[in-house]
Amino acid sequence: MAQEKKPVIKTEDEIDLIRQSSLLVGKTLAELAGLIQPGVSTLELDMRADEFIRDQGAYPGFFGYNGYPNAICTSVNNSVVHGIPTKIPLKEGDIVSVDIGVLKDGYWGDSAYTFAVGEISLEVRRLLDVTKHCLHLAIEQAVAGKRVGDIAYAVQQHAESNGYGVVRELVGHGVGSNLHEAPEVPNFGKRGHGLLLQPNLVIAIEPMINLGTKKVKQLRDGWTIQTADGKPSAHFEHTVVVRKDKAEVLSTFEWIETALAARI
Ligand code: MF3
Ligand code: CO
Repeated sequence: MAQEKKPVIKTEDEIDLIRQSSLLVGKTLAELAGLIQPGVSTLELDMRADEFIRDQGAYPGFFGYNGYPNAICTSVNNSVVHGIPTKIPLKEGDIVSVDIGVLKDGYWGDSAYTFAVGEISLEVRRLLDVTKHCLHLAIEQAVAGKRVGDIAYAVQQHAESNGYGVVRELVGHGVGSNLHEAPEVPNFGKRGHGLLLQPNLVIAIEPMINLGTKKVKQLRDGWTIQTADGKPSAHFEHTVVVRKDKAEVLSTFEWIETALAARI
């Protein structure tokens, strides 16, 4: 998906703009967190996100991106990513991965979170927890001097040691004035291999982890990616900037998790 060959190292001013867009994604996800329950459709979530983002003077950048028809991607259960919102109501026990990109003042933010709809099985709860932990382990590797393969390995190691399948066909990416920039950031790979990470490189890290097989297929809608075996899949994504000692996470799940805790 990378559209530029060479990674562009960002200035602090550019990082400030990516941070603003990324924070707005976090706020929008939190707004949706308060709405997700049995009976709500993903199209309703899409309409709310579209309105919320535009109200802040920003643009829901996925809309029209390579012809994508909606503001957000909503991938339910066996859908991995790029699910198109529908009128079908969510039901108790479903999971829905919500992926949002915001474009504001020329810079993107990109983040995704997988939500439970009502009560979910312990087996699926564990998939969500492990996938989110894969993301955090990956972020720990996003420091200057490490390599893209260190990030990739961290995700793969944790997911596979839990018996899960790691999607190969879709990868994380650089983020900036384009949604998809170099480098590609796969969720599988070898430690010490790949691009050397430099301070102020901004990347989206986005493990896509399947309960069963790693194999996926694309639906005839041209977008939706689903697991080949029909088992559930989870997706968590942060936009982060590589720093000298510790990565800085530009997007946030804090407001989402506050909203989720307030619902119980
Ligand atoms: N968020 C996806 C990614 O991280 C991109 C979705 S692009 C769209 O790469 F066109 F589907 F919106
Ligand atoms: Co992304």
